[in-house]
Amino acid sequence: MLERRGFVVGLTGTIIAAIGAVVGIPLVGYTILPALRKRPETWTDAGPVAELVHGQPRELRVLQTVSDGWLKGTVAKSVWAVKQATGEVLVYSGLCTHLGCGFRWNPQTQQFQCPCHTAAFALDGRVLGGPPPRPLDTLPAKVENGRLLVIYKEFKAGAVAKIEI
Ligand code: FES
Repeated sequence: MLERRGFVVGLTGTIIAAIGAVVGIPLVGYTILPALRKRPETWTDAGPVAELVHGQPRELRVLQTVSDGWLKGTVAKSVWAVKQATGEVLVYSGLCTHLGCGFRWNPQTQQFQCPCHTAAFALDGRVLGGPPPRPLDTLPAKVENGRLLVIYKEFKAGAVAKIEI
């Protein structure tokens, strides 16, 4: 009798473990593997740096390659370039750090403003008002042969930390 009970308990445990594996393995693959997969980082030409004026942010478009199954294409993404007094260029992602809306530079107020929930950011990316949990997201940028090159990335909206997605 005792052997039979042990067999039933063992069989039940094995079935539960098998169900856990069937459900858990794809779930782990779906949630963790995309984060571990390294995306290729590509420098993208954002235009001539000579057209940028110190203290006057300018919206630029960079092309990003996207693939969806068999389809491959490019999409234009918005970034904001801010030329510094030193000649270096600071580049922000064009997505608000609150929920990802596009924002604009307002020369009257000297602020970046997001219309979705009335956020405001300073020229240096600091949050001046509204719900964004962190400053504007900076992107890797460099100047080569007079051209501004940018690596386009996106980050998790609404998070305090800058988490690449
Ligand atoms: S998305 Fe910009 S303030 Fe909410």
